[in-house]
Amino acid sequence: MEKSSRRGFMGKAFGAVAGVGALGSLVAMKQSWDPLPSVKAAGFTEIDLSGVEENKLVVEKWRGKPIFVLKKTADMVSSQSEAELARDIIIDGSHFMITIGLCTHLGCIPAYRSAKKDFLCACHGGEFNASGIETKSPPPSPLVIPPFKVVGNTVFLGEVGPEYEKMKADGVVA
Ligand code: FES
Repeated sequence: MEKSSRRGFMGKAFGAVAGVGALGSLVAMKQSWDPLPSVKAAGFTEIDLSGVEENKLVVEKWRGKPIFVLKKTADMVSSQSEAELARDIIIDGSHFMITIGLCTHLGCIPAYRSAKKDFLCACHGGEFNASGIETKSPPPSPLVIPPFKVVGNTVFLGEVGPEYEKMKADGVVA
């Protein structure tokens, strides 16, 4: 009788220890499933491009920065250079310019002039074309293309997909 109650106690004790152990490993597993805190804090931005109108600038936000999204018209596409084409994100035959909307001179936010199809930075008069390439100083370089990944009609900013890798290989992005 004493033996069996002792066995019962041992069984319960073992079960309790095993339970705590299992809970501990579940917590550890959960921690490894969760994204890193830095990734969570930085966040990804998802932009659905299906409703974007041609020649109308859409401004989104990613990691506290403005993001310019511009869908080009057929005329804009047909008249552009190789360098401009290399910066396009092409989805279903539509060409998009997606850049960080901060002037590469001193960081002002340029305005899009839809009639001229270009950007003017009012701070010091810098200009960029509809591909984000600087056309008038003082900006020293094109508007920056953020890392992106395309899935269907959606662009995920902050993730790197094959289209971005290609831009990297072509020297379009650093
Ligand atoms: S900040 Fe844009 S031209 Fe100086």
